Amino acid sequence: MPGIMALRKRAVDDKPLKGAKIVGCTHINAQTAVLIETLVELGASVRWSACNIFSTQNEVACSFGRSLFVIALDNPFLSSPGVVKSEEDFWWCIDKSINAENWQPNMILDDGGDATHLMLKKYSAMFKMIKGICEESVTGVHRLYQLSKAGKLTVPAMNVNDSVTKTMFDNLYSCRESIIDSLKRATDVMFGGKQVVVCGYGEVGKGCCQALKGLGCTVYITEVDPICALQACMDGYRVIKLSEVIRQVDILITATGNKNVVTREHMDKMKNGAIVCNMGHSNTEIDVNSLRTPDLTWEKVRSQVDHILWPDGKRIILLAEGRLVNLSCSSVPSFVVSITSCSQGTIFKLFSFLLSSLRRAYDNFKVFISAKARNTTLTTMFYGTYYKVIISISDEYVASLHLPTFDAHLTELTDDQAKYLGLTKAGPFKPNYYR
Ligand SMILES: NC(=O)c1ccc[n+]([C@@H]2O[C@H](COP(=O)([O-])OP(=O)(O)OC[C@H]3O[C@@H](n4cnc5c(N)ncnc54)[C@H](O)[C@@H]3O)[C@@H](O)[C@H]2O)c1
Repeated sequence: MPGIMALRKRAVDDKPLKGAKIVGCTHINAQTAVLIETLVELGASVRWSACNIFSTQNEVACSFGRSLFVIALDNPFLSSPGVVKSEEDFWWCIDKSINAENWQPNMILDDGGDATHLMLKKYSAMFKMIKGICEESVTGVHRLYQLSKAGKLTVPAMNVNDSVTKTMFDNLYSCRESIIDSLKRATDVMFGGKQVVVCGYGEVGKGCCQALKGLGCTVYITEVDPICALQACMDGYRVIKLSEVIRQVDILITATGNKNVVTREHMDKMKNGAIVCNMGHSNTEIDVNSLRTPDLTWEKVRSQVDHILWPDGKRIILLAEGRLVNLSCSSVPSFVVSITSCSQGTIFKLFSFLLSSLRRAYDNFKVFISAKARNTTLTTMFYGTYYKVIISISDEYVASLHLPTFDAHLTELTDDQAKYLGLTKAGPFKPNYYR
């Protein structure tokens, strides 16, 4: 993880996170451990829990438990590593990471919005003391916007997913590699000639499609957004409704961040041996609950692989019970996590740096909201102005931390060129709307 190590080295003496008490809720793997160590080295104290039950590397969770700075997973993860896989334990861990004696969090680093929502719902007084939220996933950001619209988001929030480096690497390049890895590990499927449907042609969907097409699959796309649908057409894919091809599909992948994209009705029509999996954050995209009926039999073939048997003998292969397949059945490259972690790390660094002024701006703006437009929200303002400025600096910074890995040498603008483009020589090099 070259970038995060470089960041740590550069910032360790300044301790920019001194005083930050961070509740973290992310995937728990070796790379997360490096992020946590970095936050601690930069001065923060943290408590952490998992945002997904199948992506937790229990050996990492155990080592967290023994270390000095994370105590959120003291039980039941540690007493029975590999066994705890239930929703109940999942919420227990998040609750424990939030509610600790003699420890009052002032920041949340979330992936999917569960820690934010639990704190808001159960510990509303504590939530009021939070100075900032850093949210990583599309799904979590969507939930923040909903809260914001309802006037319930009283805390400045930052959207890591909006950073160019995060979406480029985590969503596009990483998923391009890990979709193949996870399907291979889970099923040993041969890709050439297979008919695949990818639901959603956003960053994740695009990555999956590129990889599958490269291996000789015939790829179909479903989309609700005409622009993404047009992009898919221009990239050479057929855009169809799921119902049009469902009977012939060999592999069905969801990547929408939405709910009930694949229903029982769809799965009833699928052919024998078809594979169903999800690359989106939440476990809502495939209606897995609709498969838990008395007429269907579940057969666990191996960890994260279930065969669902229909009364006529048809079987469908469901991966990771509809949770995100790449983090459940394979792993994400450290380089990718380094980039995302750096975005989180630098955001916190910049965030703490600017915290007092942002908070002031918030307080002023709140007055403005209540006086003028209740539906307009602070978060939108942060996303729209302050936040964007922070991100454009942070994106270029994060990218620059990773360039030495490739021995890449940047060209410097001449004074004349900088003037011609209306830029400063040190950047930012692109306008905020550039993607
Ligand atoms: N597996 C991973 O490692 C990983 C990495 C990053 C993000 N994610 C998650 O993947 C999901 C997608 O992320 P993204 O960056 O591609 O988001 P995105 O918003 O760019 O793309 C999602 C696309 O799905 C489309 N869509 C929504 N509802 C649909 C429906 N019912 N049918 C068909 N298409 C529909 C949207 O129009 C959009 O184009 C999110 O939940 C995100 O949190 C997963």
